[in-house]
Amino acid sequence: MKLIGVVGGGTMGAGIAEVCAKAGSEVLVLETKQEFAGAASERIAKSIARGVAKGKISQDDADAAIARVRVTLDIEEFADRDLVIEAAPEIESLKAEIFGKLDTIVKPEAILATNTSSIPVIKVATATQNPGRVVGVHFFNPVPVMSLVEIISTLLTAPETTQAVTEYVSATLGKTPVQAGDQSGFIANALLIPYLCQAIRMLDSGYATREDIDAAMTGGCGHPMGPLTLCDTIGLDICLAAAQSLYDEFAEPHYAPPPRLRRMVEAGLLGRKTGRGFYEYN
Ligand code: CAA
Repeated sequence: MKLIGVVGGGTMGAGIAEVCAKAGSEVLVLETKQEFAGAASERIAKSIARGVAKGKISQDDADAAIARVRVTLDIEEFADRDLVIEAAPEIESLKAEIFGKLDTIVKPEAILATNTSSIPVIKVATATQNPGRVVGVHFFNPVPVMSLVEIISTLLTAPETTQAVTEYVSATLGKTPVQAGDQSGFIANALLIPYLCQAIRMLDSGYATREDIDAAMTGGCGHPMGPLTLCDTIGLDICLAAAQSLYDEFAEPHYAPPPRLRRMVEAGLLGRKTGRGFYEYN
């Protein structure tokens, strides 16, 4: 798989485009507006530059990777892609619409993957005429740093599809794939989201401060970030969508999004990306 398409140049889409380009693939990123296209290119260039500053990649390789990425506003340009990875907002109807459209544009042997963090993959697969070529490929944030990728096969995913993306993720991208079932949250978010929601409930009850909740999990349990800092990093809108999807799937109280999480999203306090979440950022 040489020609990759990425739908969406936000945090996750940009990160996915970056790792694919650094691994030698030619990457086309789809955006919806010129201003978003500019922001996506900037996001990718900035992260690759951080990799150079950290000594992870040479300047020459960084320049070559940037030259392998192009942003387009025209979905028809995806006609020649071998693999398209969708990283659009976590709205089921939007993803289904994108998959329905992609299915009519890409060549028959192309693979269509979704980076959804929690929506069962079959829901987008059935928007296509060929669900055998649809699979979940779930990256983690920040994509250039986190080694794990969850591969989600639906009841209808063809074994060749699963095998091809697993090989691309491990042999080409150098990431660690794990195989997950097609249930909301897959493996990591099914475990992570209830923990994050519980931290929000604990804060909301006045039981402990934000700093002490985070310090307990970094200093006491060795986590690289406390749960409230992690919510801010992931984005509270993503956390809410994932909790809602898990609650819709299992109807168990520990998955229910806490009211405080809903109110913060409604207030536009989404974390790092908006400058304020549980903490403030400049
Ligand atoms: N490109 C390449 N490498 C980079 C990089 C970049 N742009 N930025 C940082 N790195 C490397 C650094 O060089 C460093 O590598 P070494 O350890 O080999 O030196 C490593 O990444 C850590 O970077 P920093 O030292 O700058 O930063 P840090 O130590 O403060 O760690 C962090 C930052 C990696 C984000 C860490 O805090 C962490 O792991 N946090 C938890 C993140 C997490 O849980 N993510 C999952 C979220 S859930 C999700 O994404 C799923 C979902 O669907 C919601």
